[in-house]
Amino acid sequence: MPATVIVGLQWGDEGKGKTTDFLAEQVAMVVRYQGGDNAGHTVVLGGEVFKLHLVPSGVLYPHITSVIGPGVVVNPATLIAELDELAARGVNVDKVRVSRAAHVIMPYHVALDRASEARLGPAKVGTTGRGIGPAYADRAARIGLRMEDLLDPDVVRRKLERILPEKNVLLTTVYGLPPCEADSLVEQARAWGDRLRDHLVDATWLVQDALRRGDHVLLEGAQGTLLDLDHGSYPFVTSSSPVAGGACTGGGIGPLQVDEVIGVMKAYATRVGSGPFPTELEDGLGERIAERGHEYGTTTGRRRRVGWFDAVSLRYAVAVNSVTSIMLNKLDILSGLEEIRLCVAYEIDGRRVEAWPSSAELLARARPIYETFPGWAEEIHDVRSLADLPENARRYVTALEEQAGVPIVLVSVGPERTQTIERAWRPMRHRPPVPS
Ligand code: IMP
Repeated sequence: MPATVIVGLQWGDEGKGKTTDFLAEQVAMVVRYQGGDNAGHTVVLGGEVFKLHLVPSGVLYPHITSVIGPGVVVNPATLIAELDELAARGVNVDKVRVSRAAHVIMPYHVALDRASEARLGPAKVGTTGRGIGPAYADRAARIGLRMEDLLDPDVVRRKLERILPEKNVLLTTVYGLPPCEADSLVEQARAWGDRLRDHLVDATWLVQDALRRGDHVLLEGAQGTLLDLDHGSYPFVTSSSPVAGGACTGGGIGPLQVDEVIGVMKAYATRVGSGPFPTELEDGLGERIAERGHEYGTTTGRRRRVGWFDAVSLRYAVAVNSVTSIMLNKLDILSGLEEIRLCVAYEIDGRRVEAWPSSAELLARARPIYETFPGWAEEIHDVRSLADLPENARRYVTALEEQAGVPIVLVSVGPERTQTIERAWRPMRHRPPVPS
């Protein structure tokens, strides 16, 4: 059975955790394919809130093997804390697997991420300060430590003896920070390795074997398309590949092993950190939506920037991810607004632009061209079919679907798994056409 990819269609925080959670019962394996503990997936289960940064949200189901794939950068301290917390809350973490090839976020990566942001001042990316960029940079420069290295202190020492002199010049001379000591890092790595030994596997074969057995494998992206290193609003992006293509490189599967790409989006847009955001609402309305939607970062606690839905970026995201179906989240948050705007094109330098420009310079000059929809007053948390939505809500969903050009199969009207409108049969694959 081929694999399903879950991908964010905006700037992250689209609610991918809920999508994974919703599909979990038909899935045998969930694989995180990129990013690190910059991500935050919030899953609400039976009134209990779980905030996960590294461990795939499938962990909340005893039948699911949760895999941290080779494309992820892992801060072992965060991973261990998360495993311990889950275990303390009664969640079985025995089936959490971590790729031996995943790269390690070391303390100097975190220090360098924060110091470099501070130095950039107003030009900063607004990173989560988790060391993501420096860890991926070392991976590309072939000087990174991989999770498997933690199992052999001699390897860690040998590698650190090569790496640390350069890192320490940077830390001390450029940033005025204390240097890193090899001895303490080797000890730290040994402790991490001892604790995580039983979780480390060759994840690529684990995933391939599952697919060969006919298991349903879900590949779960973190962040979103517009934060993709290659396809997002560079340089205001993360340092990995959240797009569906990243599921292949970061999860260890071939493109033909994917048969469904579920794009996840919210009924409005949010962005954390710096960078252009053409539909941003910098007024009281933005604040109101942020409050109602609890738009605060799971990882950093920062208030997310909020704006109207951007269909220009949606059409782009559907294309670059070859999205086959969409889950629309947080429609309920828009209840009570008098009118709702949908950006259908940009005006850039006096010209109408329909295609999303990845250049941050052009995006910064983009003025949104809106279509306006009347809002609806009713709360919709209890609605379970599209037909029962207020007419104006239905009209808005239809407009989003027309812009996307692919069916919206799931609409979320509240944080609980049950607060979802299903338009397709489960399992999702081989489904009949979506009723209108
Ligand atoms: P980094 O991934 O920490 O290097 O941050 C790079 C950019 O991606 C910043 O603008 C962050 O705010 C953003 N970012 C990283 N992870 C997330 C996420 O999970 N949700 C939303 N934005 C994120």
